[in-house]
Parts: sequence; structure tokens; C-alpha cells
Amino acid sequence: MALSDDIDRILISEDDLQARVAELGNEISALYSDEDCPLLVSVLKGSFIFLADLTRHIDVRHEVDFMVTSSYGAATESSGVVRILLDLESSVEGRHVMIVEDIVDTGYTLEYITRNMRTRGPASLRVCTLLSKPTRREVDVQLDIIGFEVPDEFVVGYGLDYAEHYRNLRFVGVLKQQVYARS
Ligand code: IMP
Repeated sequence: MALSDDIDRILISEDDLQARVAELGNEISALYSDEDCPLLVSVLKGSFIFLADLTRHIDVRHEVDFMVTSSYGAATESSGVVRILLDLESSVEGRHVMIVEDIVDTGYTLEYITRNMRTRGPASLRVCTLLSKPTRREVDVQLDIIGFEVPDEFVVGYGLDYAEHYRNLRFVGVLKQQVYARS
């Protein structure tokens, strides 16, 4: 069975994603035009495809680094408990840092990461997220750049997974109910 057979509907098409990511790249280039080599911190695994596209639309010198936080596992609800499983290679002290997230849902993950980053003394700290689910927010987090707002539904594709699958889809979509019943 094809992977796309599991999709109920597409929320954001490949064309819309590509066009918006190009816009975000321009915004980030303008934001950092006077800063010395900002550091983009990608929160894995969900943001790997977004970051790969975004970085190629940024027209100022910058570096990328990666961090892995604990995920939901096979569940679709946040436990609210966040852990860093793999930390950055780079030092953040005195750097202009932008956290790159796939999606901000309850906000717990981002709140934890921003609090942690602030203790490392960055020159500035901003957040860029591809997707935001504002109606699900449980903690107040500052988002500087948002690609798309999405409704309160579990979404997959363009880096986002369900039980580690569907990250490779070129669009963002919603799974059929029977997929959850199957696992
Ligand atoms: P939060 O801590 O509830 O804001 O959740 C953040 C993390 O949960 C994201 O970085 C994703 O890895 C995951 N997540 C939240 N909502 C979704 C979704 O709709 N699809 C896939 N992953 C999600």
C-alpha cells in the first residue's frame, strides 16, 4: 500500500510550503543582515526537512547546529515532560541564535528549550516555527516567525511524523482515522 493512501487530506500543499519557506528565508536574511553569523538551532527530528529548505533561502552567512529533544513516541499527545537527548556542538554564548522548530503545539518543548538556551548567554534569541497550533497552547511562548497556523489536528509530512513514519511526504496532511486504529 502506498504511503499516501494513509492520508485523509492535504492541509498545506508542496507548492504552498515551498513558497512560504522562501518568504521565511527572506525574512530571516533581513532580520540578520547586520549581525555576525547567526546560529540556526534545528530541533530534531521534525525540523530537518524545513531547515534543509530554509537554509538554502537565507542569503546571509550563518551556521546550523542540531539538538534532539524527547518526542511523543508513538502517541499524539504531549506528556509535558521534555528532555534534551542530544545537545549542540556549538557554544551559544554571545551568538545571535534562532531556534528552528517544526511545530509548536502545547508549547512545553519550546518553553524548555528557550529557557535552557537563555542560561547559555546568547546575544539574542529568536524562534522560527514552520507550524503553530495556537488553540492548543498551554504555556505562553514567543514566536518571532511563523510559517503557517494549523487547526487542532495531528499533522504529518514535511518532517513531521506519526510513530516515525510519514516524515518524507512533500506536503503537510492529516492521517485517516484507521491508521491510528491499526497501530
Ligand atoms: P509541544 O511541546 O506540545 O509544543 O510539542 C512539540 C513537539 O511535538 C513538536 O516539535 C513535534 O515533534 C511534536 N508534535 C506536536 N504536534 C504534532 C503534530 O501535529 N504532528 C507531529 N508532531 C507533532
